[in-house]
Amino acid sequence: MKKILDLITEKMEQAFVSAGYEASFGKVTVSNRPDLCQYQCNGALAAAKQYKCAPIQIAKAVAEKLDGSDFSMIDAVIPGFINLNLSDSFLRSYLEEMRVSPDFGVEKVGAGLTAVVDYGGANVAKPLHIGHLRPAIIGESLKRLHKFMGYDTIGDVHLGDWGLQMGLIIAELQERQPELPYFDERFTGEYPKESPFTLSELEEIYPTASAKKTDPVFAEKAHTATFELQQGRRGYRAIWDHIMGVSLPDLRRIYDILDVHYEKWLGESDAHPYIPAMVEDLKARGLAVLSEGAWVVPVAEETDKKEVPPMILVKSDGSAIYATTDLATIVQRMQDWAPDKMLYVTDKRQNLHFEQVFRAAKKSGIVKETTVLEHVGHGTMNGADGKPFKTRDGGVLRLEQLISDMTDFVRAKVVENQIVADDEVEATTQKIALAALKYGDLSNQPTKDYNFDLERFAAFEGNTGPYILYTVVRIKSILNRYGTWEHLPIAPAANQWAKDLMLAITKFGPTMESALKTLSPNLICAYIYELSGAVNKFYHETRILTEENEELKAGYIALIGLAKRILETCIDILGFAAPEKM
Ligand code: ARG
Repeated sequence: MKKILDLITEKMEQAFVSAGYEASFGKVTVSNRPDLCQYQCNGALAAAKQYKCAPIQIAKAVAEKLDGSDFSMIDAVIPGFINLNLSDSFLRSYLEEMRVSPDFGVEKVGAGLTAVVDYGGANVAKPLHIGHLRPAIIGESLKRLHKFMGYDTIGDVHLGDWGLQMGLIIAELQERQPELPYFDERFTGEYPKESPFTLSELEEIYPTASAKKTDPVFAEKAHTATFELQQGRRGYRAIWDHIMGVSLPDLRRIYDILDVHYEKWLGESDAHPYIPAMVEDLKARGLAVLSEGAWVVPVAEETDKKEVPPMILVKSDGSAIYATTDLATIVQRMQDWAPDKMLYVTDKRQNLHFEQVFRAAKKSGIVKETTVLEHVGHGTMNGADGKPFKTRDGGVLRLEQLISDMTDFVRAKVVENQIVADDEVEATTQKIALAALKYGDLSNQPTKDYNFDLERFAAFEGNTGPYILYTVVRIKSILNRYGTWEHLPIAPAANQWAKDLMLAITKFGPTMESALKTLSPNLICAYIYELSGAVNKFYHETRILTEENEELKAGYIALIGLAKRILETCIDILGFAAPEKM
């Protein structure tokens, strides 16, 4: 379906042509004076210069050529603006087409294209902490947005499962239990199925080992263990399997609570097999060069304003690093999925890393010239006081703790206000808490820092997730009391509030398009906040269910029904859902 702005621009262009002027002057924009009109065209001002006559004359001539049935107001005003309001019939038929079209007639710009979204970035053997919240939430929503816009999407968690942390755990385990068969190089039998550690033991082993990194002897052992693991040492690989077996279910459990789901649970370890051939190829083609004993890929460009250092491919000690792994991961993705687009959602401080990797990928032809590689760098989530989030003892807060703090807070409210029956408290609480958490995050521009404010995010009024849910629940309850409504066609606006609501609904398509283009879920949040405001205003100003004129009533119901479907679609893209009651 065409966007309203494009439709009116086309009509305006035709009017310019009919009046004897060039079509290109007919661009229509949303009015910046909504008190005067809904849309405006300023083309007569520019045309006046070219045709050397008064702009108002052109504006008047063009206005005469517009089809009156499309507009309730066509006003040529000094010095030469054309102000427009849409007619009821135009608005009605546009909304009716939205109502009956799949996905409200949004143009599927991603049809035939594949997008990989790399988000989450959990590190195996370490519990998720609050730093993992933003990439998970933003990434999930960008993935859902791409899917909605027609892309085939692949979400990949890209686990940190291959680095030094694995060697540290192996070295620590060896100090504690040297008698285990994993450390006996002569052992050729089958290793135990049962893990030598539980999850909570693992969560203690890792930080203990990590703290010993400053001990040169221990550090050396950990480095050797990492190297040997990567070379395929059998016993170490078996320990690695245990680490994964113990750690992954817990990571999945938390991501499930967040309603964050990955199509692929690949990790750095899966990129490992691609590294040797990639490195050889880059060396052979002269793209990698030796620099102080390391192999690097120079990626600086003449137009750089800041220095972009070369990407380090192989360190002087022969080891591959973060960038090597990311480049090899791109090799794997291109081979297996040939995506048209790859998005990486991580902390914005990783920006230079991705710039280097992307340039190396382009320069070497690992991706096509047209492959879109983009880093969505997010800002930091701070505490309510604007300072970095810390637990009382100064540690990093676990993500699970943050989620349960929010859930407890919401549950208390749900119980206190007796919102639902006892057996529904938990499900309702989960939905509201998730909305509070996700909307609180997503309503901010991804790059910006924000303060996590539990009470503000969970409030039922204001620009919050729960407020949006509340609006959806309110509509649902009206629709339920009305009965079957899905078949009802949109009727012309019966009052000003209905018209405002209709106009808000028409902005759905343009909003989705700009959110996609700018990778900004916050635009969807701003949109549903506006739409919810329009719904609630309409609800307060209009007798809906008590309206005696059945036709009018049916029109109202159709309108809020459409608003509900759009709100539900939007919150699903953001990654949460509304309960039945609230
Ligand atoms: N595991 C990494 C970290 O904790 C994040 C991974 C992000 N994704 C990527 N392809 N590098 O910082």
